[in-house]
Amino acid sequence: MPSLDLDPFSSEVLSEPYAAYQQIREAGPVVSLPRYGILALGRHHEVRRVLHDVQTFISSAGVGLTDLRTAPGVRSPSIVLEADPPAHTRPRAVLNRVLSAQAIDTWRDSFRRVAERLVTRLLERGEIDAVADCARAFTLQAFPDAVGLGPELRENLLSYADFLFNANGPKNERFDASARDAEPLASWIMEHCQRSALRPGGFGDQIYQAQDRGELEPHEAPLLVRSLLSAGVDTTVAAIGNTLHCLATDPDAWSQLHQTPTLARHAFDEALRYDSPAQLAFRTTSVRTEIAGCAIAEGRKLLLLFGSANRDPRRWSEPERFDIGRRPTGHLAFGSGIHACVGQLVARVEAEILLEELARRVEHLELSGTPRRWLNNSVHAWGSLPLRLR
Ligand code: HEM
Repeated sequence: MPSLDLDPFSSEVLSEPYAAYQQIREAGPVVSLPRYGILALGRHHEVRRVLHDVQTFISSAGVGLTDLRTAPGVRSPSIVLEADPPAHTRPRAVLNRVLSAQAIDTWRDSFRRVAERLVTRLLERGEIDAVADCARAFTLQAFPDAVGLGPELRENLLSYADFLFNANGPKNERFDASARDAEPLASWIMEHCQRSALRPGGFGDQIYQAQDRGELEPHEAPLLVRSLLSAGVDTTVAAIGNTLHCLATDPDAWSQLHQTPTLARHAFDEALRYDSPAQLAFRTTSVRTEIAGCAIAEGRKLLLLFGSANRDPRRWSEPERFDIGRRPTGHLAFGSGIHACVGQLVARVEAEILLEELARRVEHLELSGTPRRWLNNSVHAWGSLPLRLR
C-alpha cells in the first residue's frame, strides 16, 4: 500500500486541498497516512463503495479521527450520524418524515420572503461581504425559523458547529481554539433542543410529535433536534459562500444564470461537486477486509475524501472545471447510502431560492477584494468574500 507524508489537516492543505487530493488519488485507491495512522481514500469508486457497505465500514466508532470505542468524543454520540443499523434505522425514519419534500414545501414562501428582503438590502449597499451579509444572514434567518428557534443568539449555532466539525480532525490548534468556547455553547444548544424552546409547527416540534406517537424515546427527541442544529447551518453557509465564489469568478456562468434564474439549482449542485463544503468523514473497519486488493485490518480508521472523489477524473470529465451546464448526479457532497444527508433538500431549497432571487435582480456579480478562507478541519468554506453587485 502506498504511503504519503502529507497532512490533510494542515492549514496549507485545508486552504487549497486539490493538489494534495490529486497526489492521494494518483498514489492508489487506498493510501496510508502514517502521521495519523489512518488510510485515506480519494477516488470516487472506492469512497462510494465504503459508504454503501455499512456492515464492514461502521459509523458507530465515530465519523471523525477519534475512535469512540476507545476514547471519549466531545459530546454524547449522535443517534443518527454515529449509529449503525439497526439503531440508526428508527431515528433516521423520523428525520426522513420531518424533512420530507412535502414538509419543506411549506417553508418555501417563508424562505422566499427572507431572500427578497435580504437581496433588496444587499442591492442598496452594492458592496458586500457575501459570507457575513448574504450566506450567514440568510441561513441564520431561514433555517432556525424552520426548526422553530427563537431569534436570540443564533450565531451560537455557527460557533458550535465550527467546533464540532473541527472535532472530526486531529486535536490541532484549530480544534483547541474552537473548543475554548464550546462548553457554554453546548449547554445553550441543549437548552434550545427542549420542547419548550421550539415554536409549534417547526421541524423541532415535529420531532417531539413523533415522540408523542411513540416513535422516539424521550431522551431521543432532543438529540435529533441537536442533529439539525449541529449539521444544518455551517454546511449550508459554506455551500452558499462557495457557490457565490464560483459564480463571481465566472462571468459567463453569472450571465447565463441572470438570463435563466431557474438554472440556480444546477449551479448549486455543480458548486457542491466542485468545491464541496463537507470535505471528509471517517469510517472504521469492523472486520478484516480489503479494498481494491489492499488488505485492511479490523479497527482501522478510513478517511473518506468527498472533496477529492468529486474531482476524480476517473468519474468526471474535466473535473477541475466549474461548469453550470454539467448535471453532476452522483457527487458525494451529501455523502451516499444510509447516512446520506437527511437535510439535503432543506439546504437545496434554501440555496436555490436565494440564488434565484440574486440571479433575477443582479446583472453583474464580481469580486471587489481578496476572499479569505475560513479554515476548519472538515468544512471547506470562505470566511470573507467581498463582492460588488449591480
Ligand atoms: C449544503 C449543506 C449540507 C451539506 C454539504 C451536508 C453534508 C452532509 C454529509 C456529507 C453527510 C454524511 C456524513 C457521513 O456519511 O458521515 C450529512 C449527513 C447529515 N446531515 Fe447534512 N449537509 C448539509 C445540510 C444539512 C442540513 C440543512 C441538515 C438538517 C436539516 C443536515 C443534517 C444532517 C444529518 C442529521 C446527517 C446524518 C444523517 C445520517 O447519519 O443518517 N445536513 N450531511
